[in-house]
Amino acid sequence: MILQALSVFPEMFEPVMSTSILGRARKAGLFEFQAFDLRDWTHDRHRTVDDEPYGGGQGMLMKVEPIFEAVEAISQDGPRPHVVFFTPCGVPFSQQTAERLASYDRLLFVCGRYEGMDERAYSLADECISIGDYVLTGGELPAMVVMDAVVRLLPGALGDEMSNKDESFATGDDGGLLEYSQYTRPAEFRDMRVPEVLLSGDHAKVDAWRRADALERTCRWRPDLIETACLSEAERARAEE
Ligand code: ADE
Repeated sequence: MILQALSVFPEMFEPVMSTSILGRARKAGLFEFQAFDLRDWTHDRHRTVDDEPYGGGQGMLMKVEPIFEAVEAISQDGPRPHVVFFTPCGVPFSQQTAERLASYDRLLFVCGRYEGMDERAYSLADECISIGDYVLTGGELPAMVVMDAVVRLLPGALGDEMSNKDESFATGDDGGLLEYSQYTRPAEFRDMRVPEVLLSGDHAKVDAWRRADALERTCRWRPDLIETACLSEAERARAEE
């Protein structure tokens, strides 16, 4: 997979893209990453990428011409990229979106700054993504959030192929719940004991306990997920108690 980012702060990406699981996956050749400086597609001495909004109002907007020139130039060689813009006005990001994005050969992430972009720039977008209902200073952190969620889904990225199958938000025919509670040694810490069933070695009982725990946690912390979760009739009855 080829991941590319267009930004006025391309230097923000390298530490994240070369550390931990992303760094290892990149070294292993599971993906290539390149960050481009939007200012390379300006033509004035000050390398201007922003301007005042028509009609007045606060703040500055990103200009349309450098974004068009950059996206067209970057897209020219190789397969056409799937172009994603980051904005708080985009579609909320989810695990499902991460799974869909992980199937593209090439993604180009366009990161806004300032108070937004000239609306005409968004005509280049195949989709617009928001990472949540809050306003950040730019699209770089959102782009890295999405790249992290996508790269860890690439086959081989996590080492253990199972480790993204039964986690929170995993889709599939028993999916949609938060992940169950997990414990490691010691079995007792400051009067807090690991649930006895997890020490029993009885795998069927452990599986049943985990499923019930996932259901209970989801009811408590994310009741909004219950409606769309894949539940048995008995589980749904329990969730509605
Ligand atoms: N740019 C600024 N805030 C953002 C958000 N919440 N999601 C995506 N892009 C953004």
